[in-house]
Amino acid sequence: MTEPLGGWKRTHTCGELRGTDADRPVTLMGWAFRRRDHGGLIFVDLRDRDGVTQCVVNPAEAGAAHTRAEGVRSEFVLAVRGVVARRPAGTENARLPTGEIEVQVRELRILNEARPLPFPIEDEGDVDELVRLKYRYLDLRRPPLFQNFRLRDAVTRSVRGYLHGQGFIEVETPILTRQTPEGARDFLVPSRLSPGNFYALPQSPQLFKQLLMVAGFERYFQIARCFRDEDFRRDRQPEFTQIDVETAFLDRDDLLPLIEGMIVAVFRDVQGVELATPFPRLTYAEALARFGSDKPDLRFGLELVDLTELFRGGEFQALAQVAGTGGAVKGFRLPGAGGLSRKAADDLTAEAKSLGAKGLVWVKVTAEGLQSPVARFLEPVREVLLRRLGAGPGDLLLLVGDTMPLAAAVLGRLRVELAQRHGLVPADRRALAWIVDFPLFEYNAAEKRWDSMHHPFTAPRDEDVALMESDPGRALAKAYDLVLNGQEIGGGSIRIHQQPIQQKVFELLGIGKAEARAKFGFLLDALEFGAPPMGGIALGLDRLVAVLAGVDSIRDVIAFPKTQKGTDPMTDAPSPVPPVLLRDLGIRVVDVEKGKP
Ligand code: AMO
Repeated sequence: MTEPLGGWKRTHTCGELRGTDADRPVTLMGWAFRRRDHGGLIFVDLRDRDGVTQCVVNPAEAGAAHTRAEGVRSEFVLAVRGVVARRPAGTENARLPTGEIEVQVRELRILNEARPLPFPIEDEGDVDELVRLKYRYLDLRRPPLFQNFRLRDAVTRSVRGYLHGQGFIEVETPILTRQTPEGARDFLVPSRLSPGNFYALPQSPQLFKQLLMVAGFERYFQIARCFRDEDFRRDRQPEFTQIDVETAFLDRDDLLPLIEGMIVAVFRDVQGVELATPFPRLTYAEALARFGSDKPDLRFGLELVDLTELFRGGEFQALAQVAGTGGAVKGFRLPGAGGLSRKAADDLTAEAKSLGAKGLVWVKVTAEGLQSPVARFLEPVREVLLRRLGAGPGDLLLLVGDTMPLAAAVLGRLRVELAQRHGLVPADRRALAWIVDFPLFEYNAAEKRWDSMHHPFTAPRDEDVALMESDPGRALAKAYDLVLNGQEIGGGSIRIHQQPIQQKVFELLGIGKAEARAKFGFLLDALEFGAPPMGGIALGLDRLVAVLAGVDSIRDVIAFPKTQKGTDPMTDAPSPVPPVLLRDLGIRVVDVEKGKP
């Protein structure tokens, strides 16, 4: 039988009572986490979002409460009234903040019952992800998961505090809008009032924040929901949240320290960690060359070394040829991994090939010399090779020859994989870095045109404006990414605020005047009405919180995330809709799979 609150008021949370509270009368409310019947005494561990308190019901002292407690099952919602008592010596629980005390129950109310649960709240063990998402509200009752949301809240509070302190104002931008140029596929929303027309959900507030700068807002931010219909991974969701920022009258070197200040404030407020500033800056070219990635994990070394000259014209035919035809030979040293088995070495080779390399040269350095299937080709360059890589006995060397980007990318992936496998990633290190000087464009060979590397509103470096005419591939952008522990947690740029440069960029991207007008006419207009120099950044809030919380997947920091397939097992979204709704929208559903080969 359940009862109403009946005027009872909580006096404390289930996480706050201590030994010093002994003899205090209290009223607690929460969920029955665990219940143990000791044939007489009934123990109920009462849980709320703050913690767990042991409550004891003694039939001799509280007969009615005891009778009710007999019927209590897991996750029943209870209210108890009683008196705090120190636990008998020897029965304290040091692992629980409330472990010194228990509440001796005088009265107990069952506020609600609960059906047997699909999985235990207490057990952190293996529960199928689909089941967890179907009953997400039960999953979220698990204390460690709930803590991620406290953390997330602390992060957004800190961000808001910092940005407000710096003169930013928070502004909301539309969710029903038209395409933004972030490059992923859009989610579309059909319009009933304009049949055959669609809104797009924003991939980011990019265009609107630029328009707010034209409007003279000067410093804008928003904790902004973004939508991208792309393939999901552990660090990607179809809807995710950005800390979106835009400023006027600041160039790159003014903006980056301002954003660093925000990250410093977050780490200080949320974790009490004092980060060193300025964050290191690497150019895009340097990041690729040294770490084989534009989001290098700088928590550990294992830097790539260029060995092209060493092999040029040498006896090692395969690598000499790579060097002679404009390619690069790169390598790195894995300290102390020289004991690798033949099988493991072959597996690494297969891994390199699956990443696109033609092969992998592996070398074990021993006191007696080099051990490798190609040891005799390496013999002539042995000394320089060891010196360049700083290698000694017991080390493993890995080399790849290919085009420079491919060789670097393959080794970059192996570098991260192997660092993890060999325990070389210090768990408590936070490695932040800016990647700057991205190319403005990358060539799209299939379409025979340039694509924006960031987005089409990104400004070229002042000194590279002329290169847009003469050699667009070499023009570098005022674009930057923020990398934390090998993850891209943010990206942004200084924008083009002058119409002629914007037109030139559209031209190179193969966006004709008419198309530009049709797609971004409102922005082009705005650029003609006194647009100030402007620039900004967006940080992936989910990714930042996931790193702070020490979890692998951003799903653990999003209250109601989607599965890999973009579905929500709890609400069953996406779902079919009644035909009448489609009729109103002028939409007929056809089976797109039908007729496909
Ligand atoms: P960008 O596209 O680089 O820039 O996005 C900024 C940051 O958002 C995060 N992010 C994601 N997080 C989770 N799931 C996703 N699907 C996802 N996609 C991106 C990343 C990324 O670094 N408008 C520009 C910013 C600007 O120029 O100011 C933009 O959106 O952490």
